Amino acid sequence: MSKIGVFDSGIGGLSILNEALHQAPGHHYVYLADSVNTPYGEKSSDWVSSRSLALCSWLIEQGCDAIVIACNTATAQAISQIREAFPKNAIIGVEPGIKPAAQQSSKKIVGVLATQNTLTSDKFKQLLASLLSDCEFIQQAGVGLVPLIEQGQLSGPFIDALLHQYIDPMIEQGADTLVLGCTHYPFLQSQIQSMYGAQLQIIDTSNAVVKQMCRLVSAEETRIGSVNFYSTSDGQSLLQLAKKLLGFQGLLQAQAYSVHL
Ligand code: DGL
Repeated sequence: MSKIGVFDSGIGGLSILNEALHQAPGHHYVYLADSVNTPYGEKSSDWVSSRSLALCSWLIEQGCDAIVIACNTATAQAISQIREAFPKNAIIGVEPGIKPAAQQSSKKIVGVLATQNTLTSDKFKQLLASLLSDCEFIQQAGVGLVPLIEQGQLSGPFIDALLHQYIDPMIEQGADTLVLGCTHYPFLQSQIQSMYGAQLQIIDTSNAVVKQMCRLVSAEETRIGSVNFYSTSDGQSLLQLAKKLLGFQGLLQAQAYSVHL
C-alpha cells in the first residue's frame, strides 16, 4: 500500500481522487485542499509555484511516497520545481487533454476551457507547440466557475450563464470537442452535456492521470483503503462536499481535519 498525497486549490482535485478510488481503492490517500486560497486561476505565477511547493512539502512531511498535483494550474506553474525539490518521490501532474481531443475531434476544432494561469503558462504553450496536428484550439478562461463549484453549485442560473458565455462561441466557431482543462470542471460535465448534447464530446483526463499514478506507486493494496481530508479552511465542510461529489464507497475510511499552513 502506498501513502499518496493529492492536492488542489480546493475541491477540484476530488475529480482525480474519485477516479483513484475507483482504480486503486486500497491505498492510503491524503487529500489537501487549499480552500483558504482558492481560486488559483488568476493569482500570480510566482505565488502559485511557491504555494504549491509548500503544500507538497507538507504532504511529504506527512509521509506521502507519491504526490498527485491534482490541479492544472499548479502543475503548469510548479511541477518542474516540485520534481527538482523531491527527486525521490513520484510526482504526477495533470494537463489539459489536447492530444486526445485533437485525435477525437472529427472537425478538428477543439475548445479548451481552463484557468487563465494554465492557458498563459509556458508549459501549456509548449504542449500546444509539441502537437503535430492541424487541429484548431479555441482557448477560453473559465473565470468565475471555480468559486461557484467550491460552493457546491454544479448547475443553476449562474453556472449556466457562464457556461453559455464560454462555450456558445466555441460551438459557433465549429468546435465539436471540449477539453476540461481544470480539475474542477469534470463536476460540470453532466450539466455541459445536458446543455449541448451529442454535438459536443467532452475530454477529461482523470482516467489517464490515475493510470499513470498506478504505474508509479506500489501495486500492493490493502483490503480497506482510507482518505484523510485536510483543508486550509474547514475540514468538515470539505468532507461534506467530498461525500456529495465522490458518492462514497462503503468500505472507505474517511477523516477530516482543518490545517493552518
Ligand atoms: N482545479 C485547478 C485547476 O485544475 C485550480 C482552479 C483554480 O483554483 O482556479 O486548474
